[in-house]
Amino acid sequence: MAKVNVGPNAFGYPMPMSLVGTMVEGRPNFMAAAWVSRVNPSPPMMAVAIGKSHATNTGIKQQGSFSINFPGVDLIKATDYCGLVSGKKTDKSKVFEVYYGQLETAPLIAACPFGLECRLIDTVELPIDDLFIGEIVAAYTEEKYMTEGSLDVRLMKPFLLTMPDNRYWAVGEVVGKAWQDGRDLRG
Ligand SMILES: Cc1cc2nc3c(=O)[nH]c(=O)nc-3n(C[C@H](O)[C@H](O)[C@H](O)COP(=O)(O)O)c2cc1C
Repeated sequence: MAKVNVGPNAFGYPMPMSLVGTMVEGRPNFMAAAWVSRVNPSPPMMAVAIGKSHATNTGIKQQGSFSINFPGVDLIKATDYCGLVSGKKTDKSKVFEVYYGQLETAPLIAACPFGLECRLIDTVELPIDDLFIGEIVAAYTEEKYMTEGSLDVRLMKPFLLTMPDNRYWAVGEVVGKAWQDGRDLRG
């Protein structure tokens, strides 16, 4: 078993692509983000790592809220664009049709199959990023992305990011059932 140490920054695992929405200078702004995760089951929360230099970082601190929108593969170009340009220099408010839920300062993207409104709960300061932890106030989808009352990943068609090769990936086939496939080994 010859393991190779590929260095602490080589993280090859897929991460979910999202667009984080905030208000920047009074207008909706969206930033591509992959360093995003669900945390704390109750109340449900999300954590997202946002570079201190990004307009989104300032927006979240000023407004105390943000949205996390999960685009489908049809939005790859627009998502990537929102990761290439900053709201500090470019007005990104017209890239997507925007809607609002309960929070007035967390713009959501109509074209995304799944969107979360988050109220900022805590901020963990890191050397380059801030880790923003937000409580999910509401989650939005449409019937067309659901099967028998549940979100259906086959219909939402999300995409994932691997780094450092910087590729977007579609989700593949179902390969198992969680909290079930290991049961036989319990004895
Ligand atoms: C595929 C992709 C994923 C990204 N993920 C993150 C991320 O998780 N955190 C982060 O701080 N920046 C991330 N970025 C960089 C920001 O999206 C980018 O710097 C953006 O221009 C910032 O926009 P803003 O200044 O309007 O907030 C990513 C960019 C791309 C293209």
